[in-house]
Amino acid sequence: MQLAHRLQPLQSNVFADMDQAKARARSAGREIIDLSLGSSDLPTAEHITQTIAHSLSDPSTHGYLLFHGTQPFRQAAAAWYTRKFGIPVDPETEVLALIGSQEGTAHLPLAVLNPGEFALLLDPGYPSHAGGVYLASGQIYPMPLLAENGFLPIFADIPEPVLAQARLMVLSYPHNPTAACAPLAFFQEAVAFCQAHNLVLAHDFPYADLTFEDVTLPSILQADPDKTVSIEFFSLSKSYNMGGFRVGYAIGNATLITALRQVKAAVDFNQYQGILHGAVAALTGPQTGVQAMVNTFRQRRDACIHALDRIGWQAPTPTATMYIWAKLPTAWTQSSMEFCTQLVEATGVALSPGSGFGKTGEGYVRFALVHEPPILATAIDRIAQFLSQV
Ligand SMILES: Cc1ncc(COP(=O)(O)O)c(C=O)c1O
Repeated sequence: MQLAHRLQPLQSNVFADMDQAKARARSAGREIIDLSLGSSDLPTAEHITQTIAHSLSDPSTHGYLLFHGTQPFRQAAAAWYTRKFGIPVDPETEVLALIGSQEGTAHLPLAVLNPGEFALLLDPGYPSHAGGVYLASGQIYPMPLLAENGFLPIFADIPEPVLAQARLMVLSYPHNPTAACAPLAFFQEAVAFCQAHNLVLAHDFPYADLTFEDVTLPSILQADPDKTVSIEFFSLSKSYNMGGFRVGYAIGNATLITALRQVKAAVDFNQYQGILHGAVAALTGPQTGVQAMVNTFRQRRDACIHALDRIGWQAPTPTATMYIWAKLPTAWTQSSMEFCTQLVEATGVALSPGSGFGKTGEGYVRFALVHEPPILATAIDRIAQFLSQV
């Protein structure tokens, strides 16, 4: 059978190879401690699950959910955004419900790229950003993120011929996988650059709430309050532990919102309405669970950094996200993929190889803090044992 060429870059990926290594470790009887996936282990708050459960017995929620049906959700999202960032948003024209933010960022290239045109992506970066560009038959220009630049891209390094064919730039801070944060001044530079070069600027912002500092992280729309080129993607997966429910939203330039809605209209009828009712309860209800989630990840971050320090593996302490981005130990001379496959097969501890997020991620591994501190400590003891034998 002949499949489309655009599928080729999606076929081999580091994470599929890691899944096989995990399966081999499992069948060899190893107990797996999986720190490779950024999927929160925390439960969704009861007032949210009860709202969804209540919806189930209401037959009016059982049909297709068309655009007018998502209005209460759009209003809740707009109000949440304005409360947090102080910028007015029109729920009718500037908000779009999504089946998770990943769905939105992966579909956006279909709305803005013609085949062969370039998207400027962070390297390392979240894999579905590249996946969406491949599905739209676009080309990727990876903007390398280096520690010495605070893991921020240098726009002046983008070659002119690439810029001439580029239509889209995708940013995402706090950043997965490096956990870097971007100041508002960087977003202002990005907006000015995209305006000057006629680029759409997408900002993937699922960790908007997951910060350990007492400041609100900047939104891209604070650098583009008139929403001239920008669209920002939000998720309820991290803030409200709702990853499995698949709910997120986009806020931004009305033309981009309409274009993305047109792509989606060909693909889906939105998720189950009860999930959006639960999301409204999350966005408009008590926010104490958000703070509890942040406190949990702060404790895990501290426990993990402390345990790594104890075994002589220094990694920067992240100020946001649920990840630690650590340089491979100096004793290790092979690739990040070799490190992760050998580690999981020998110890059952699964980490993500930096190369899975892009070429510039080589030399690093990512820890996802998705277990309690005692399990993290066990994982790091096992890593110490593994390293003592290399
Ligand atoms: C940068 C980034 N974007 C999107 C997602 C997925 O979010 P959602 O569950 O809303 O699709 C993740 C999840 O880890 C992420 O790290």
